[in-house]
Amino acid sequence: MYILAIESSCDDTSAAVLKDDILLSNVTASQAVHEEYGGVVPELASRAHQQNIVPVVHAAIKRAGITKDQLSAVAFTRGPGLLGSLLVGVSFAKGLARGLGIPMIEVNHLQGHVLAHFIKESEEDHHQPDFPYLCLLVSGGNSQIVRVNSYKDMEILGQTIDDAAGEAIDKCSKVMGLGYPGGPIIDRLARQGNPDAFKFSKPNIKGYDYSFSGLKTSFLYHLRDWVAEDPDFVEHHKADLAASLEKTVVDILMKKLRLAVKETGIRRVAVAGGVSANTGLRNAFRDHAKRYHWRIFIPKFSYTTDNAAMIGITGYFKYLDKDFASIDLPAYARMEK
Ligand code: KG4
Repeated sequence: MYILAIESSCDDTSAAVLKDDILLSNVTASQAVHEEYGGVVPELASRAHQQNIVPVVHAAIKRAGITKDQLSAVAFTRGPGLLGSLLVGVSFAKGLARGLGIPMIEVNHLQGHVLAHFIKESEEDHHQPDFPYLCLLVSGGNSQIVRVNSYKDMEILGQTIDDAAGEAIDKCSKVMGLGYPGGPIIDRLARQGNPDAFKFSKPNIKGYDYSFSGLKTSFLYHLRDWVAEDPDFVEHHKADLAASLEKTVVDILMKKLRLAVKETGIRRVAVAGGVSANTGLRNAFRDHAKRYHWRIFIPKFSYTTDNAAMIGITGYFKYLDKDFASIDLPAYARMEK
């Protein structure tokens, strides 16, 4: 069985081909057009998806070494995400599936991130978590602790009540004038800085929920005071600022995760989403594995940010259940579904 998967929820156009649960190709076109605006501009994103989708799908099928007539199904991200971006992938998937006379499979983008750990690159690839496991899903739009009971059964134990972790990092990077997206820039700078140089406020929220808006405000106010005294403050201290910010975010994330592990008794712990590319967070996972005997699952870099491979593996499990989508379903921007 060959599945073509399409992801277009934000600013990456991605297509992947899987043979059963083995990944044959995963092609992603990112959109540099947003850099000068310091954030994703939805209208530009959907236009870029329109330009990219045909060559990206074509390249994924070619790299997989098959032809489109061999495809068994088309999986696609239905949501959540930017509606204009989603519409490009959803419409393309509908047209292709209808043209080839094969079923379509709708995939929830977040479920894709959580199941990215099941992507296999070869038959010998056996590093997949057993159920149940906990997944820290951290991206530009989400910060959640998910209890994954099976491929289909996932329970959100806690989530952000305001900003996502990646969003907070990106905004702090922006106020420092460091560019967009801030995550990789902060990561790079943090490696040369002192994580204990500055202290920023941490939220005090009950249960497993997160909050990052207080950190963002605390960062902004501190920076404003420091810059008032020394206009070159950021230039002089950017590595320490990045390292301290990263440490604060990682501490906030890990504290709730430790609580979730303790209270559920589940020691299989995965991380997923764009922020899981972060070196400090990855190191914290390794440290927790040693210290608390967690069995950890950290995705390859290519499966952290948005990619179609994760949509493909989720589509594969849904294909086995014959969980197909109807041609008239709309994209959805939010999670209500
Ligand atoms: O999952 P993703 O590609 O997009 C969605 O939000 O769906 O995540 C993007 C987020 C951005 O906030 C970006 O700054 C962050 O992931 N990110 C990182 C790193 N790489 C990407 N954050 C911290 N460290 C990184 N190395």
